[in-house]
Amino acid sequence: MSDASSVFADALDHVAEPLELVERAMREQLTTEAEVIAAVGDHVLSSGGKRVRPAILLLASELCGYTGTRRVQVAAAVELLHTATLLHDDVVDVSPLRRGRASAMALWGNRRAVLAGDFFYARASTMIVEDGDLDVLWVFSNTIRLMAEGEILQLQRSFDPSVTEQHYYAVIERKSAALLGAASEAGAILGGVTRAERRRLAEYGRELGLAFQIRDDALDYEASAEVLGKERYTDLREGKVTLPLLLALKRCNADEREGIERVLKSAARRDLDEPHVPSDADLAPALEVVARTRSVVDAVRRAEEHVARARAAIAPFPDGAAKQALLVAADFAAARDR
Ligand code: IPE
Ligand code: IPE
Ligand code: MG
Ligand code: MG
Repeated sequence: MSDASSVFADALDHVAEPLELVERAMREQLTTEAEVIAAVGDHVLSSGGKRVRPAILLLASELCGYTGTRRVQVAAAVELLHTATLLHDDVVDVSPLRRGRASAMALWGNRRAVLAGDFFYARASTMIVEDGDLDVLWVFSNTIRLMAEGEILQLQRSFDPSVTEQHYYAVIERKSAALLGAASEAGAILGGVTRAERRRLAEYGRELGLAFQIRDDALDYEASAEVLGKERYTDLREGKVTLPLLLALKRCNADEREGIERVLKSAARRDLDEPHVPSDADLAPALEVVARTRSVVDAVRRAEEHVARARAAIAPFPDGAAKQALLVAADFAAARDR
């Protein structure tokens, strides 16, 4: 385990007990007549995600003075929501590997993976309705809308070398930062804090989420599938112009730009249902420019700027174990290797 991961794991010890209850609460939601959905659910829940979102919700609510039983239910809902988005995302991205195992879409096919995702969205919504807080329900339903928008915005501009940073941010704010922001804000709502304090927690989660996704996009260029639990170069293969490639496109010469454009064009053939999956060698012209321009390192630096903003957002809150763990979680977002 890397330093960042082990420091994060230690910080999570503080919420080990409620996280265990969250796990149980999610399992209870798998009961269904539809055996395939139960099997997909068992597959994804037992494959060991990091549980970052429920952990942040638990810690944020403690920071805001609430440690009662409601937070387990709401934290389980947030992780089920995340699970649903991953099931759908692997269909959208044609990703065969998830959490070190074959993805649900690879094992059960797109149709069942999508329906299982719908099932988890619905279960998460039911849990929030049972909790009964309309503010939390509003934050969650708004987040589901934003995440769908983010994935679509990304699809719309796939294979497009003229994507701007503004567009990139519009995508990651929605598809990733929104849910981490919602987790943190829901913790604040449970704590019944002031509007201003609630905004601070939402800001913490949002900035952490931006860092988290930028790091994810950097890892896609450099981590190994064994550590990451998902294939690398998936973004480039899918024609996603993420921050490392965006920075490379800003810094390259005309020949290099042409090379990148050719890679994106060849990746696009796959989208037209041609049986063509670009190999690592096909991707080489783009990978070389990303490496030469040191764009991965600079993307990570950008992630660190968001971490600093996340840390600043919770600075006025009282010190203690919850705040310390939230600060560690923010650092982890930009330093993680899985
Ligand atoms: C993956 O999220 C999707 C992104 C927002 C990058 P995580 O990296 O939190 O996935 P798990 O739950 O740990 O597998
Ligand atoms: C984040 O985007 C996905 C969601 C928010 C659902 P990615 O497509 O980069 O996530 P991974 O890399 O597949 O986990
Ligand atoms: Mg994906
Ligand atoms: Mg990714």
